[in-house]
Amino acid sequence: MPEVRVRPLKTLEEFRACEEIQRAVWGTLGVSSEVLLVTQKHGGAVLGAFTGGRCVGFVYAFLARRHGRLIHWSHMMAVLPEFRDRGLGLRMKLAHRRLALQQGIRSVCWTFDPLQSRNAALNLRRLGAQAEEYIPDCYGQFPSAIEKGLPADRFVAHWKLDSAEVRRRLREKAAPVVYFQLPRVNETRPAAEEGPERFLENHRIFLRLRSPRLLVEIPSNTEAMRNHALSLARRWRMESRQIFRSYFAAGYIASDFASRKEPEGLRCYYVLRRKPTAHN
Ligand SMILES: CC(C)(COP(=O)(O)OP(=O)(O)OC[C@H]1O[C@@H](n2cnc3c(N)ncnc32)[C@H](O)[C@@H]1OP(=O)(O)O)[C@@H](O)C(=O)NCCC(=O)NCCS
Repeated sequence: MPEVRVRPLKTLEEFRACEEIQRAVWGTLGVSSEVLLVTQKHGGAVLGAFTGGRCVGFVYAFLARRHGRLIHWSHMMAVLPEFRDRGLGLRMKLAHRRLALQQGIRSVCWTFDPLQSRNAALNLRRLGAQAEEYIPDCYGQFPSAIEKGLPADRFVAHWKLDSAEVRRRLREKAAPVVYFQLPRVNETRPAAEEGPERFLENHRIFLRLRSPRLLVEIPSNTEAMRNHALSLARRWRMESRQIFRSYFAAGYIASDFASRKEPEGLRCYYVLRRKPTAHN
């Protein structure tokens, strides 16, 4: 791939390229070039990833207030499918981090679908963001090529830009192998549904575990599942909703993510960590 450059967007033409990317990724337009332009001018951030002079990905964040503090709320990030898994998402997030810190912003928040393992790998593992909030059906029914009509449940990711934990996480890449020995909230097994890849289903779910850290498995191929086994994808949505809501209510957060290749395919896990309380 030719050299990639990540930089803030400037021209209306560049903001229009973001509209095209949105249509290619979601099949619909969420944020117009006019809004991108004014956001860039007035305290937000719109960065693009360029290769061969073409904008193939962008991140869009506006200035917001959360729990009384000014933050950047990153409403959208997208990379064209043919340019994914080459580190462009990571590079745009890191460029955004530098820009935000220069502006005195200490936190960036955004929502993402907990069942999208690629997003989880990037957001929690590589960047060190954490998810402390689960919003069922966050955006209602909206015409998204990704959602396929499922409820748009979301984690709220909180990225504490200059925390020691985030600085440490940005230096390491792979998750510690010890994670794979943690107690598991859900036991999975091969599902009857077939597709181009092997799908998993939940076999048993335990909602009352209380170890300091726990694992929750999610599918590694949600997109294929939504294309080929929508009812199984719907079951995953409702069962994972129950898991995350129960454990968040019991004082856990999603603090990390780990994946590993096994003979049957890629296996993906969230690490839930119990927040310290006055008693522990
Ligand atoms: C989310 C998105 C922007 C990421 O962009 P990207 O350029 O592919 O991201 P990166 O290459 O930097 O990181 C992807 C990571 O996921 C990993 N990954 C890829 N497929 C995976 C899978 N099926 N399961 C788990 N991890 C996976 C990659 O190996 C990489 O991790 P690594 O750097 O440790 O190798 C892109 O996938 C996208 O546009 N998605 C659709 C829109 C969207 O969901 N936007 C975010 C919410 S608004």
